[in-house]
Amino acid sequence: MATNPIPQFPAGFLWGVSTSSHQIEGAAEQREPSVWDDFSAGAGHIKDGSTAAVACDHVHRYPEDVALLRDLGVGAYRFSISWPRVNSPGGLDFYDRLVDELAGAGVQPVPTLFHWDLPSSLEEAGGWLNRDTAERFAEYVAVVAARLGDRVTKWITINEPAEHTLLGHALGTHAPGKQLMFDALPAAHHQLLGHGLAVRALRAAGVTDIGIANSHGPTWAASEEQADVEAAGFYDLLLNRLFAEPVLLGEYPEGIGELMPGTDIGSDLKIISEPLDWYGINYYAPTRVGAPEGADIEFGGVTIPAELPFTVKQIEGVPTTDFGWPVVPEGLTELLTGFHERYGDRLPPVVITENGCSYDDIDDQRRIAYLDGHIRALHRATEAGVDVRGYFVWSLLDNFEWAQGYARRFGLVHVNFEDSAALERTPKASYRWFQEVLRAQR
Ligand code: FCB
Repeated sequence: MATNPIPQFPAGFLWGVSTSSHQIEGAAEQREPSVWDDFSAGAGHIKDGSTAAVACDHVHRYPEDVALLRDLGVGAYRFSISWPRVNSPGGLDFYDRLVDELAGAGVQPVPTLFHWDLPSSLEEAGGWLNRDTAERFAEYVAVVAARLGDRVTKWITINEPAEHTLLGHALGTHAPGKQLMFDALPAAHHQLLGHGLAVRALRAAGVTDIGIANSHGPTWAASEEQADVEAAGFYDLLLNRLFAEPVLLGEYPEGIGELMPGTDIGSDLKIISEPLDWYGINYYAPTRVGAPEGADIEFGGVTIPAELPFTVKQIEGVPTTDFGWPVVPEGLTELLTGFHERYGDRLPPVVITENGCSYDDIDDQRRIAYLDGHIRALHRATEAGVDVRGYFVWSLLDNFEWAQGYARRFGLVHVNFEDSAALERTPKASYRWFQEVLRAQR
């Protein structure tokens, strides 16, 4: 572990940790089902055969979890609001109590309004492939803002529409399990439209501090061969530009608009590009991409089908997490300076809304090294002129890591899922380390 202190970030820089509703809440019987409940019930969908019916049982244990946040010393807590819970009697009361508990602990709440747990009833009506879902989303957002807006000032509309499109609608390894390949693009468009309509609903409720949480990463061509460079460019377009450009520039990258549903894209783009107060980026790793090789590839828990016009390759010579993801802190500096160059003053201040890694141990020195490296890389981006206002570690707790179940541990706090009655929380070495980092930044 590095011993020299992490450089000082500007006063007012927001330090936090992130979670999401489906991954930690449990208390599934107190809410409507979501696409993730349905998907998890399907044989072979979740690696360890688990579900999130109980997860970390956060709905019942939130006072303990908020105490962990307080002791950690974070300024902010990013969590998500479960749309199926809000639809259920007493659902909003839970978030009411959570927000009050956070206020008592001196931690700023930063809710995300959609982190992949769509109510099953909406999925039955077509889910994100149906434009109507975007309108329903805005109605739900208005209800939540009316209830919590007196105490919650900072909001995130949606989380990672890229992964939700790719994994959930194109490849089918995530809920709702659709395997539509490029016909999944309308789901991307409708999530982005939902984002824009949500921004409008929040503004109408008087909110002045709004962001999105988009996942991005540098794309590295496997070689200088033209075929690899082209494949990497296409991957960059799908992961980065397809989700950043409609939001930041009000346009889709060339060629993508034509693949979209037969709607009036032009007027939708006006909604999608409603100005944001900041732009949230989830960063984990760069991707090395090459020309297709005519065979399916297993990568980071996902099968990349042979028919895609690219393949994903191992980055050589770097450590990997227990999930097999490459550890490349410089990728964060490269990503941010690259965005700064690409989008100039169209890019609002940036907040890193997720960054973290999966390791199994409680004495998690490798997580400390990962976080240390990434926070320094973030600082280098600020020195290079990128306006970064906050950094959130994924995640506070070990939790239900989607298709991987409980087998992947991203938490600063260990949760003992073996003993489902106790679900004991144990702060890891990285929790203590982050506590010290935060103390030194104050
Ligand atoms: C991101 C998700 C988050 C978590 C991390 C590891 O893609 O937004 O919920 O699963 O990955």
